[in-house]
Amino acid sequence: MNIGVIGLGKLGCSMFAAFAAAGNNVFGFDIDKNVRNDLRKKIAPVLETGLQGEINLGFENFKILDNTSQVIEQSDVIYVIVPTPSLKDGTFDTKYLENVILNISDVDSSCENKLIVITSTVLPGDTRLKLISKIRLKNEKISKIKFCYSPEFIALGSVLNDLKNPDFLLVGEDIPHSADIHIEAMMTVIKNKNIPIRRMSIESAEMAKISINSYITSKISFANAIGIASDNIENCSSKDVLSAIGSDSRIGKKYLNKGLGFGGPCFPRDNRAIQQVINRAEGLEYYLPIQNETFNSKLPDYYVKKIDQFCINKKLENVVVVGLTYKDGSYLLEESQSYLISLKLSKNYKIFYFDPDVLNNNKDLGLEEFNLNSKVIGDILLFNCSRDQSKLKMVKKIIKEKNLNYFQLDIWE
Ligand SMILES: NC(=O)c1ccc[n+]([C@@H]2O[C@H](COP(=O)([O-])OP(=O)(O)OC[C@H]3O[C@@H](n4cnc5c(N)ncnc54)[C@H](O)[C@@H]3O)[C@@H](O)[C@H]2O)c1
Repeated sequence: MNIGVIGLGKLGCSMFAAFAAAGNNVFGFDIDKNVRNDLRKKIAPVLETGLQGEINLGFENFKILDNTSQVIEQSDVIYVIVPTPSLKDGTFDTKYLENVILNISDVDSSCENKLIVITSTVLPGDTRLKLISKIRLKNEKISKIKFCYSPEFIALGSVLNDLKNPDFLLVGEDIPHSADIHIEAMMTVIKNKNIPIRRMSIESAEMAKISINSYITSKISFANAIGIASDNIENCSSKDVLSAIGSDSRIGKKYLNKGLGFGGPCFPRDNRAIQQVINRAEGLEYYLPIQNETFNSKLPDYYVKKIDQFCINKKLENVVVVGLTYKDGSYLLEESQSYLISLKLSKNYKIFYFDPDVLNNNKDLGLEEFNLNSKVIGDILLFNCSRDQSKLKMVKKIIKEKNLNYFQLDIWE
């Protein structure tokens, strides 16, 4: 198939590489020249698990072009995956998406059978009101391009794996079957060809995407609240309680652990956005998303207090935080609760972090890395925020070599 990808960032580049590695002819464009140059030289422009390997595999099948129109010219289905940053009120800024549409000109081939797939996260109504409306004003040829909205449910650090193994495909289409070509393209990448495909209107799919993410954040906060309350009761274990709750098939075990609150570049902002959408429904008073956000934002203080009590009891002045990024496998510190906790603790303690996921060139952390050269006087509190046992193993090896004593607190216990 001839597939185009516009916006080759954290999500777009993985999609671009996966389509090419699956044997499609793939045409890409990113407004950032460095991204284009890197890909032309077979270099992954962003860090992502397995991405370099996927680029190596697909290199013969992809071409980086110089503008949006060239990509549209060459492709039958075109994915647009540009940023939609959150605005102060929680809604999304669609200016980058609108720019992509504005930049479409000079397409010679017939556009009637071309499909643009909006993959960026948008609010219900955005695709139709801000994008389709603009393409319909273009010349007769370009105005015929069809649109669909189809987001990906991926987590940074496992983007390729998530792209290839989704639970289902969410497809919002304007005209029945107009998204067939998109489904065909995705099926070249998806391993299980029998996953459910949920086809609906564009607005329904836009609504479903942010609702799903908001629901997961509610589940995380529920688990944290019930978990903390359980541990507060004598003879009651949060692990046992949450394991029982998760065994009910109506609820399920995923995202039902007591530990860090939600963070990263997607969950918090989608949760904020859904509150805005809910607020638009006259007479509806439902504030769970905003209350959830408030609870989540106060969670780091709860753990800071706990650690404080522990350190005072044991007379500890050094804390080594294991796992600083918002999740294992990702280098992002955006809304990372372990990072927030570390910064708060650094006012009263000597804080070190240990996390091989943190980028080497990230010097503005305000925290010291823990390694064999770290100057540590006295015992240590090892505060483990990671679920990756190898990180804990590595840090314990350093502690042993430095002959230090430590106490351990595990946030996921
Ligand atoms: N990263 C995620 O985990 C994730 C998950 C689900 C959804 N999304 C959504 O996908 C979208 C993109 O996210 P991302 O994390 O990949 O962003 P990103 O910032 O990593 O990448 C976006 C890319 O688009 C490029 N770009 C901007 N304007 C352009 C234009 N006019 N033409 C061509 N390229 C342009 C940028 O240079 C950049 O390389 C957002 O709406 C985001 O909410 C992201």
